[in-house]
Amino acid sequence: MEKQTDKKSKTIIALCMGSSCFARKNTTLVTLINEFLLENNLVDSVELIGNLCMDKCKEGPNIKIDNQIFHQIDAVKLIKILSEKLL
Ligand code: FES
Repeated sequence: MEKQTDKKSKTIIALCMGSSCFARKNTTLVTLINEFLLENNLVDSVELIGNLCMDKCKEGPNIKIDNQIFHQIDAVKLIKILSEKLL
């Protein structure tokens, strides 16, 4: 009999690392995301990656969670989105 695995795939959070989003301080969001994951015991269920320009530069900083793009992310918006998507 084949062994069944109950392996849930990880949520992918992709931060745009293009120059425009970088200039809009997208990198400061990395710290906030990591803190959120640690505080909510989500480190093992989320993968945080960098992404090339998402072609939405004017709407940055941008992040993508499981292929849904979120625009004009600041600290408040970020925590709201992470709470909705991950908790
Ligand atoms: S640099 Fe982020 S969308 Fe272009």
